[in-house]
Amino acid sequence: MGFLGVVKKPHVVCIPYPAQGHINPMLKLAKLLHYKGFHVTFVNTEYNHRRLVKSRGPDSVKGLPGFRFETIPDGLPHSDDIEATQHIPSLCDSTRKTCLSPFRNLLSKLNDSSSSDTPPVSCIVSDGVMSFTLTAAQECGIPEVLFWTTSACGFMSYVHYPHLIHRGLTPLKDINYLTNGYLDTTIDWIPGLVKDIRLRDLPSFLRTTDPDDIMLDFVKGEVQRAKKAEAIILNTFDALEHDVLNVLSFMFPRVYSIGPLQLLHNQIPENGLKSIGSNLWQEQPGCLDWLDSQKPNSVVYVNFGSITVMTPEQLVEFAWGLANSNQTFLWVIRPDLVVGDSALLPPKFITDTRERGLLASWCPQEQVLNHPSIGAFLTHNGWNSTIESICGGVPMICWPFFAEQQTNCRYVCTEWGMGMEIDSNVKRDEVESLVKQIMEGEKGKEMKKRTLEWKKKAEEATYQDAFTLGKS
Ligand code: UDX
Repeated sequence: MGFLGVVKKPHVVCIPYPAQGHINPMLKLAKLLHYKGFHVTFVNTEYNHRRLVKSRGPDSVKGLPGFRFETIPDGLPHSDDIEATQHIPSLCDSTRKTCLSPFRNLLSKLNDSSSSDTPPVSCIVSDGVMSFTLTAAQECGIPEVLFWTTSACGFMSYVHYPHLIHRGLTPLKDINYLTNGYLDTTIDWIPGLVKDIRLRDLPSFLRTTDPDDIMLDFVKGEVQRAKKAEAIILNTFDALEHDVLNVLSFMFPRVYSIGPLQLLHNQIPENGLKSIGSNLWQEQPGCLDWLDSQKPNSVVYVNFGSITVMTPEQLVEFAWGLANSNQTFLWVIRPDLVVGDSALLPPKFITDTRERGLLASWCPQEQVLNHPSIGAFLTHNGWNSTIESICGGVPMICWPFFAEQQTNCRYVCTEWGMGMEIDSNVKRDEVESLVKQIMEGEKGKEMKKRTLEWKKKAEEATYQDAFTLGKS
């Protein structure tokens, strides 16, 4: 109760892990909470704040009444090159070691009663891999919910990292274990996951020989602290991941599937806030206009998300695979997608595909995946890309890169029937063959049908939630 009995709004502080695939779903959730009557403080890193200003203009971080942006440093030295993808192990190590103190200071500032227009912080929604926030929450007596932006099967796999380490399954004995069939070992003891899941389907951080590996240690620490949160939320839906969600609900005090957030976000009326985006790269204009000029279900959309990198040789294999498939394509090649300086597409590829291929550096992916011209998505299976593809009813060709993308790929291809996997050692013939199959073959038709069924179930899941959205 405030001055003269005026009830102050509840105030939520939303803090994503500072990478694109984490900021996007957290921003959607923050906007939904604002729509439901919360005062929102959204916390970016200073580095990402600068990137947002550069890619989307200063208005993108100005906020609106009741929705404020704040920043904390990420603890890393930064050059002026603010286009580059950050090195994930360094970022994880830095956030866990340096961000608690600035976050604590930010909470004190927000709770300072002299700044009268901001209600005191009533809860924190933090990314699951920013668990240092739990310490600050506990100190201030503020309840905290952890938002794991992964699939439930990915989260369940991470939860079992301490067990994998304890059983001696990771770190690997030596580098040969990456190629000698060891990764095909079946792991049949993780509850809720399919019984024939293999080590290679589990999140990729276990593929290390280093007992002091930063990511192994980081994941182990984050999942062990997850139990301290009031609740855990996941951007998935029950029909898709029922078994694993069911088991998680016995392991954690409260677990909620709140997705697909994109479908709920679409239901918010236009209110100024809805249009605030979070792209760290500048969108290349013209992609949607070009798609408008294509036939329904005729375009292969190729995009490997915000962190994947590949060698120049892999880029060339993808290029010739696409060219030889004779299909129309929209291929997003992030400026930092290819390692090294000599990443060039073959000039003959450019001339051969000029009439039926559009190359871009970054695009409005959700709109692209909902465009009727898109027939298939060649993806790295980041969880956002995967769930956005499901919401668009678009079947996938999967080339997982790292983290729990391998787990998502396994479920997409084998359990959900929405995709086909490309070997990590990508070759043009396989790309050509899978692209033809998904666009023209019987298997492609079957996968399209399955994907549309999942899309319908996703809509049903959020339709039920929409009733709750409408209530106070
Ligand atoms: C990845 C994984 O997704 C995540 O599961 C893991 O924990 C860490 O890294 P990322 O590579 O960013 O993240 O992939 P993804 O989860 O698919 O997120 C990318 C986001 O950027 C999506 O929301 C996508 O719509 C958006 N995007 C990507 C664009 O808007 N335009 C583009 O051109 C590319």
